[in-house]
Amino acid sequence: MNITTNQIRTMFLSFFKKKDHKIIPSSSLIPNNDPSLLFTNAGMNQFKEIFLGNNKPKFSKVVTIQKCLRTGGKYNDLDNIGYSDNHHTFFEMLGNFSFGDYFKKEAISYAWELLTSIQWFNLNKNRLWVTVYYKDQETYQIWINIIGLNPERVIYVGNKKNSNSLSDNFWSMGENGPCGPSTEIFYDPTENFLQHSGEYFKNNQDTQIEIWNIVFMEYNRTLDGELIPLPNKSVDTGMGLERISRILQNKKSNYEIDIFDQLIKSIFQFNKNIYSNKKKSIYIIADHIRSSAFLIAENIFPSNEGRGYVLRRIIRRALRHAHTSGMNKLFFFKLIPTLIEVMGEESNLIKNNIKKVQEVLKQEEIQFNYTIHRGIKLLEDQIKKLKGNILHGKIIFKLYDTFGFPVDLTADFCKEQNLQIDSIGFMKEMNKQKKQTKIANQFAKQYDPVLTIKNHSIFKGYNTYETTSIIKQIFINGKTTNQLNCGESGIIILDNTPFYPESGGQIGDIGEINNKQNIFKVENTKKYGIGIIHFGKILSGKLSVNQEIQAKINIKYRKNIQNNHSATHLLHSALRNIFGNNTIQKGSLITNLSLRFDFSCNEKITNEKIHKIEYIVNEYIIQNSIINTTIDTFNNAQKTGAIALFNEKYNDIVRIVSINDYSIELCGGTHTNQTGSIGFFKIINEKSIGSGIKRIEAVTGNKAILFIHNKETKLNHIMNILNTNEDNISKKIHVLTNTIHKLKNNIDIFIKRELIEITKQLLKKVIHINNINLLIENINISNSNLLRNVIDIIQKKLHSAIIIITTIIEKKIYFIIKISKNLTNDIQANYIAKKIINNIGGKGGGKSHLSEGGGGTKVELLSITLNNIQSWIKKKFELL
Ligand code: ALA
Repeated sequence: MNITTNQIRTMFLSFFKKKDHKIIPSSSLIPNNDPSLLFTNAGMNQFKEIFLGNNKPKFSKVVTIQKCLRTGGKYNDLDNIGYSDNHHTFFEMLGNFSFGDYFKKEAISYAWELLTSIQWFNLNKNRLWVTVYYKDQETYQIWINIIGLNPERVIYVGNKKNSNSLSDNFWSMGENGPCGPSTEIFYDPTENFLQHSGEYFKNNQDTQIEIWNIVFMEYNRTLDGELIPLPNKSVDTGMGLERISRILQNKKSNYEIDIFDQLIKSIFQFNKNIYSNKKKSIYIIADHIRSSAFLIAENIFPSNEGRGYVLRRIIRRALRHAHTSGMNKLFFFKLIPTLIEVMGEESNLIKNNIKKVQEVLKQEEIQFNYTIHRGIKLLEDQIKKLKGNILHGKIIFKLYDTFGFPVDLTADFCKEQNLQIDSIGFMKEMNKQKKQTKIANQFAKQYDPVLTIKNHSIFKGYNTYETTSIIKQIFINGKTTNQLNCGESGIIILDNTPFYPESGGQIGDIGEINNKQNIFKVENTKKYGIGIIHFGKILSGKLSVNQEIQAKINIKYRKNIQNNHSATHLLHSALRNIFGNNTIQKGSLITNLSLRFDFSCNEKITNEKIHKIEYIVNEYIIQNSIINTTIDTFNNAQKTGAIALFNEKYNDIVRIVSINDYSIELCGGTHTNQTGSIGFFKIINEKSIGSGIKRIEAVTGNKAILFIHNKETKLNHIMNILNTNEDNISKKIHVLTNTIHKLKNNIDIFIKRELIEITKQLLKKVIHINNINLLIENINISNSNLLRNVIDIIQKKLHSAIIIITTIIEKKIYFIIKISKNLTNDIQANYIAKKIINNIGGKGGGKSHLSEGGGGTKVELLSITLNNIQSWIKKKFELL
C-alpha cells in the first residue's frame, strides 16, 4: 500500500466522520489550566473535565488527531528515543471518543473495521493480536463472539502475578484522574507471523507493535488510590500515527516513514561528514527537532526550570548527538523549513512563528557549541595535569555540573586519549546531587494535583465586589478537611466568588471571607481545574464546610489592577498603531502596582517612540471612553477583528472587551468602566528580552505621578549640587565634563614626563655583571601603580636583566621584581621577594620571572636589604 502519513490522517478522520463523530482540532501541547500535567500526553486530555462529568460535552462522539509530548511525568519516552523504533518525544495520537454514548462493543468494532476492512487499512488479520484486562470478561467475549477472533489471539493481561506483559491494560492519565480497563491491538511485523502462537506472543511482546489502545473510561482515581465510578461510561482511544504509518508504509521503523525520511535527508544535506554507524543519533535529531519546534512555537523557551528545562534537555540531547556524529556546523534550526513541509497543515503554528522558532534554536545551538568548546579546553587542561591514566570522578562531575559538559562526551574524549574515566567516583558525586536531579526529572510530580476539586466555582466578580456564598471545600496542606481554625492557613473553595483568580496575566484578588467575627484573610486567588481556590489564613474564629459566608475583595487593590489591565489594552492598541498590526502580544503581567507587556518588535524603540506611545495612551485616557464587555461565540468574536485569545477550547464562549473603536480584545480579565479612571500613564522601563521581543513596564494613576515626583526630586538635588537651574543644567554638565577631560589629559602628560625622567635616571644606574644587567633601586613615585609602568619600560630596554624597584608611599614599601626568562633557572623573582619580605615585612608573591609585594613598614631596613641582595646577586653571577 502506497499511502502517505497525510493520507492516513485524512482516512482516520473520514472513517469516524462517517460514524457520526465530530472532528475536533488538536488542543495545545501545553495543557489548559491543568496543573497535574506538564505537557499534553494523550488525546483525552482536552476532554478530562467531560469524562469526570464536570463539563457537558457539546458532541457525544468526537474524533481528534492530538499533538502529544511524552517527556516527564507518568509517560516519559525521552530516553527511549534513538533506541526504540516505536517511540517519540513528540507524536500525533489518532483517537475517537464517546462521552456516555457508545461503549465497548462499538468501540472495538470500529477499530477492527478501520484496521482490517479492505476499503480502509486492510491489515492482515493474522498479524493482529489483542490484549484484554484480566478482569474484563465482557471485552474478551466481544472479541471472540462478535468480532470472531480465535481465542488464542485474545490474551488476558494485567494480573501481575501470572503475566509478563509490559502493559497492565488499565489506563490512567496521571497518578489520578479518569481511568479504566483497556484493550490493546498489536501488529506482528515479523516474517514468520503465521507460525506464531499465543504463547509466542506473550513471551515476545517486544517484537510486536502496539498500535491501538481502547480505554473504557469508568472510574476517577482519587489521590488515595480509590476508584470512584464516573457518572457516564465513556470511551477514549489512542493510536500512534507514526506507528500505523510505519505499518501501512511497510517500514522497519517509525523513523523510516515519509515524514522522517525527508527530515533525515535534510540532516545529511546540512552535514556532509556524518560518521557512519550513527543511525541512532540521526533518529534522535529527527525526533527532537519536532518536539523542540512545536514547543517553541507554543512560546516555551529554553530555561533552567519547568517546561523550559525539558525543552533545553531535548535540544541539548539532539545537539550532543550531532556533535559526536561529526556535525560541527550550525544546522539544527535549518531543519525547520523541511519540518514544515513534511508536517503540512499540522505545522501551521510553527510556520506562523518560523522566525522565532529558528532564532531560539539558533541561539541555543550557538550557546551549546560554546559549552562544548569550553568543555574540551577544560578537559585538555585537566588531562595535562593528570597523573596516571584515570580521569577522576570529581572532575567529570565538575565538567558536567558546572560547565554543562555531557558525560558521554568526556568519556568519548578520554577514550581517544587511551584514558579511563572514574565512573564510580562520578556516580558518587551524582548521588550527592540526586535529590536535585530527581526534582528536575520528576518535574511533573511537583505539579501533581494535591487537591480533588468537586465543584465548579462560579466567578461573579465582573459585576460585584462582594457575594454571599457557601464554603464547598476546605484544604490544609493539600488534604481535605471540614474546618479551618484560628491561625491556620489553607485553601477555601466557594460555590461562587467575587475573587478573580490569577489568569491572562492578571494577578489574583486579595480580600476577606467572613462569617461575622470569623475571618479568613484571602492572600491570593488562583484557578485550579474547575475550581477557584482562595489561599489565606484564619485571623479570628473558625470557618467550616457548608457554612454561608460573605466574600469581599479588597476594592482598592482590585481597582488598581483594573486600571492597569485597561491601560494594557490601550498600550497594546498604541503599539499596533505605531509598529503596525503585526505587533503580537507575547505575554503580560498586570498587578496592582504596575503593568508589563511583552510584544514582538524588531525595531529599536527610541525615546521619541516611547513619548509617542505615552502620548497616544494618555490621549485615550483623556477621551474617558466607556469600556464595554460582551459575551459571544469565538467565531463571531473573530469576525469583529478582536485580537488575542482568551481560551483555546473548541467550544468556548469568549468575552470581548472593547474600548471605543481603538481596542477590541478577547479577554477574561477585569476592567475599569471608563478610561478616565486610569488617570495618567507613564512608561518606566523598556528593554529587549529576546530576539525580536520587547518588554515595556508602565505605571498608572498616582503611581505614575509618584514616579514623576521621584525624578523631579533627583533633578532638583543635582541642580542644587551644581548650583544651576533647569535651563542651564545641560550646559553646565557639558562644561564640567569638558574640564574633567582636559584635566585628565594634563595629568596623563605629566605622568608620561615623570615616567620618562624616572626611567632615564634608572637606566644610568644599571650595572653589568657577566653579560647580565642588574638594577636595584628605590625610587620616588606618586602612586604604586606607576611602578609597573616603570619596570615595563625598563625591561623592554634591557635584555638578560634582573630588575628590582621599590618605592615608599605613605610609609609603606612596595616592590616589583622582574627577571628575564633566560635567567630564571639561576635566580627566581619569588625567591627574592621572600627575602625582601623577611626583612622589611609586608606581603607578596608571584612567579619565577615576576613578583610583586607591598605593605612592609620597616623603611629603615630597606636600604641595607637592597644592598645585601645586590651583593648576593653579584657574587652569584660573578661566579658563573
Ligand atoms: N488515552 C489512551 C492512551 O493514551 C488511549 O493510550
